[in-house]
Amino acid sequence: MRLTVIGTGYLGAVHAACMADIGHDVLGVDVDPEKITALTEGRTPFYEPGLDDVLARTLASGRLRFTTSLREAAAHGEVHFICVGTPQQPGSPAADLRHVDAVVDGLAPHLPASCLVVGKSTVPVGTTSRLTTRIADLAPAGVRAAVAWNPEFLREGFAVEDTLHPDRLVVGATSREADDTLRRVYAPMLAAGVPYISTDPNTAELVKVAANSFLATKISFINAMAEVCDAVGADVATLADALGHDSRIGRRFLNAGIGFGGGCLPKDIRAFTARAEELGVGTAVAFLDQVDAINQRQRTRTVALARRTAGGDLTGLRVTVLGATFKPNSDDVRDSPALAIASALHHEGADVRVHDPEGTANAQLAHPELSCSTDLLTACQGTELVLHLTEWSQYRELDPFKLARAVRTPLLIDGRNALAHAEWRAAGWTVRALGRPAPTNHTDADRPHDPLRTTVASPSTEVDRTTALA
Ligand code: UGA
Repeated sequence: MRLTVIGTGYLGAVHAACMADIGHDVLGVDVDPEKITALTEGRTPFYEPGLDDVLARTLASGRLRFTTSLREAAAHGEVHFICVGTPQQPGSPAADLRHVDAVVDGLAPHLPASCLVVGKSTVPVGTTSRLTTRIADLAPAGVRAAVAWNPEFLREGFAVEDTLHPDRLVVGATSREADDTLRRVYAPMLAAGVPYISTDPNTAELVKVAANSFLATKISFINAMAEVCDAVGADVATLADALGHDSRIGRRFLNAGIGFGGGCLPKDIRAFTARAEELGVGTAVAFLDQVDAINQRQRTRTVALARRTAGGDLTGLRVTVLGATFKPNSDDVRDSPALAIASALHHEGADVRVHDPEGTANAQLAHPELSCSTDLLTACQGTELVLHLTEWSQYRELDPFKLARAVRTPLLIDGRNALAHAEWRAAGWTVRALGRPAPTNHTDADRPHDPLRTTVASPSTEVDRTTALA
């Protein structure tokens, strides 16, 4: 099928390459000529494991091309996927739909024949219906363009895998024809047994924001429990393991720490509350304000823990932050809790060095005040406090004995509760974490929780935990 994918960011570049990989003839479109040149030359403009390979083989097959021209896109596609960003509006919790609207305005007047426009971006409920009218007004007389919504659930870091092997496909369409067209687009996934949920556009749009709201709520729930644990010296990691054994609850997304960030969860819960207010049902999702507040509080609580650990004053303290991205296996630093904490420590007078395997360029752009490095030992040399804030696997593989020799003071705050605390303590480190008791002389309370090798978790929980961390 002839498809266009408009917007080649984290979502669109992956979607375009994967659709070409399953056999479609795909034209990727973006307003940024530099991105288009890079993609045409097989260079991915961001770090996403596996994408380079798919891009290389689909470009070589001739089934994937890129352009900046919406006119060319209009001529090419029987199905047009909208994959542009829907960021938070400056000064408002609501979503900014200007990119989505610009695509429709640029595409519709050039449509040569009837076609299907499919939104994949995360949008406020009601957008499909609004765009249907907008396209009908702008398309040439006689051209019919149906609009459907097909939200995307991919995770950064696993984007290729999630696109080729999604756990479900959700399609909100108003006609049988549109639904059938999307079933043809996704035929290989349907043949592989991927559940296909066919519904109306409002429901499809809501599925996406509801899913992200649920995930955000789950993370904030365990972080709220971490706050309670801190008040009584209880252990949130053991609590999460124990909760996770209940299959109705599950262990994934119950990792307490510095909270969620990125270009999706934070802005999606805010946009949802704004849209619900407009619809007169703001109270139904008012709890999301608390979810957001709990999440933000983990950042200030981590800074406070660093200050306490340093004896009340961070001025002049040499601090190393491990991790700049909002999650591992990505170079994305949008709304990164790690960077927000690093910046706050800097503003309290600490001498902060940030290490990240992939995110230093983006981190340096977003926070020029911070000193960023890809060399771990240099970043740690002579430091007085290490904060582990993004759970890259290489941090779990660190040798705490070796690192103890490089630093000035072996003091660790594990902001992701993902390191083997027992091993770090055995190597002479003082380890602190939110929601985790400081060791006492009592042997049980002193038992450091090692989330990856926990003795209380069953093997299946360990798998869950590792996947959740990944
Ligand atoms: C999220 C959703 O998981 C995807 O399903 C969705 O498609 C995507 O947003 C989107 O809307 O485009 P993503 O932003 O890639 O995906 O990141 P997540 O894996 O959800 O992680 C979000 C944040 O939560 C990260 O900062 C992560 O470190 C944090 N997190 C995750 C926790 O603090 N604790 C956990 O237990 C899990």
